[in-house]
Amino acid sequence: TVLIIDFGSQVTQLIARRVREAGVYCEIVPFQSADEAFDRIAPKAVILSGGPASTTEIGSPRAPQKVFDAGIPVLGICYGEQTICAQLGGAVEAGHHREFGRAFLDIQDDCALFEGLWAKGTRHQVWMSHGDRVTALPDGFRVVATSTGAPYAAIADDKRRFYAVQFHPEVVHTPDGAKLLANFVHHIAGMKSDWTMRAYREHAVQAIRDQVGSGKVICALSGGVDSSVAALLIHEAVGEQLTCILVDHGLMRKNEAADVVAMFREHYNLHLILVDASDRFIGALEGESDPEKKRKTIGRLFIEVFEEEAAKLGGADFLAQGTLYPDVIESVSFTGGPSVTIKSHHNVGGLPERMNMKLVEPLRELFKDEVRVLGKELGLPDSFIGRHPFPGPGLAIRCPGGISREKLEILREADAIYLDEIRKAGLYDAIWQAFAVLLPVQTVGVMGDGRTYEFVCALRAVTSVDGMTADFYHYDMEFLGRAATRIINEVRGINRVVYDVTSKPPGTIEWE
Ligand code: XMP
Repeated sequence: TVLIIDFGSQVTQLIARRVREAGVYCEIVPFQSADEAFDRIAPKAVILSGGPASTTEIGSPRAPQKVFDAGIPVLGICYGEQTICAQLGGAVEAGHHREFGRAFLDIQDDCALFEGLWAKGTRHQVWMSHGDRVTALPDGFRVVATSTGAPYAAIADDKRRFYAVQFHPEVVHTPDGAKLLANFVHHIAGMKSDWTMRAYREHAVQAIRDQVGSGKVICALSGGVDSSVAALLIHEAVGEQLTCILVDHGLMRKNEAADVVAMFREHYNLHLILVDASDRFIGALEGESDPEKKRKTIGRLFIEVFEEEAAKLGGADFLAQGTLYPDVIESVSFTGGPSVTIKSHHNVGGLPERMNMKLVEPLRELFKDEVRVLGKELGLPDSFIGRHPFPGPGLAIRCPGGISREKLEILREADAIYLDEIRKAGLYDAIWQAFAVLLPVQTVGVMGDGRTYEFVCALRAVTSVDGMTADFYHYDMEFLGRAATRIINEVRGINRVVYDVTSKPPGTIEWE
């Protein structure tokens, strides 16, 4: 294992991504718990991340001294370099030499980090983001690369195998950065590429068997990738001991519940209970137009229905959840202030506090795209794995204002046609998420010789990496015209279509 000590950089997770892409397992821990984590994990190498603090300030974070005393390789990135220098006897100067964005690195000397990558005397693009800079090296170090703003842009102490860089090799704007991190873990730390999904699958199956024993497991299957992959993995480990419950809240997309049931029952022979609770959900939501109240109602009912079904089964010992690594990583907080709730997210996260069950979370160590690879490994079709995200509260938050069965039906049809057109145009995989929204607004139109007075449908499509920020998708107008015409012609109840050109921020992806 490689231990990554997080000093609060926005991009620490990317370091972990790159290390895992190099086939080496790693874990991120905040600097506050690095000491304890070091003993627990006994890493073969350590990476110190960037961060917003300045080593020149009193009380700024440091790496535990044992990291440097253990005889293992250490790589410092940005703040990580500065703290290495501050801790081992060099000097760091605050302030004036800020360097942000693209920069060019001049390779001054050969270095194990640059092996097969950058030769002495060459120049390479890297990404910088720092205010402070190193001004004197600790004993044993030499400069191996410089940049205009950083005379110590890369430094090495080959004997102790300590390396540090001022730039960020983990971001894509450092084109060779991934290879540089691979050099660190492979050549310098001598670690093999043995973190593969096949190996993970075997390890996870064994771990689930050890944990669950002969206990009973239940799982809320939503049809999303995470809960599906978690269920399949547990099914592989303990077979019949697992029961999945799919709560159909009547807010799913067209044919969705049936498709999910068909796949898991028929293809995987998994014990799956489909609960049609649509009357209950829609009944409770009728007349409610406040977005937060809708979300809360759906979350509450979901837990109620799930608990009732679990009780019918005679309870269970374990609750399976598709928790991912980004949810597990403790974030480093310097400000500590509470953040504002934009939306109360609904997923099965609220279940465990209420139910007296132990958790099985076989995806806790994985990133989203690793879950996709694992899903493929478990035989899930590409079309399923590559599906756009779908929110827990479903179509209810895509019908601003009050919902009704009729409105949901109209929206389901429009959404299906829109997605069909996207697939036909070969755009599905280029878009991060696309869906239709049914507005609570009626407008006048003319169809044939008659007047119409029907709803407006808004189309949304965004590109994003993680859903935190998003840009609206730039369709060509031909496409939009085609989709709009089909929706208006084929869906009764819609006579006008508009396209949402709002990015996030200031908009959110969903309308509620
Ligand atoms: P927003 O609308 O907040 O959405 O920009 C970001 C991403 O999250 C999805 N989303 C949810 N997912 N439960 C979920 O599991 C929810 O309550 C929820 N609300 C929004 C949304 O579809 C987008 O992908």
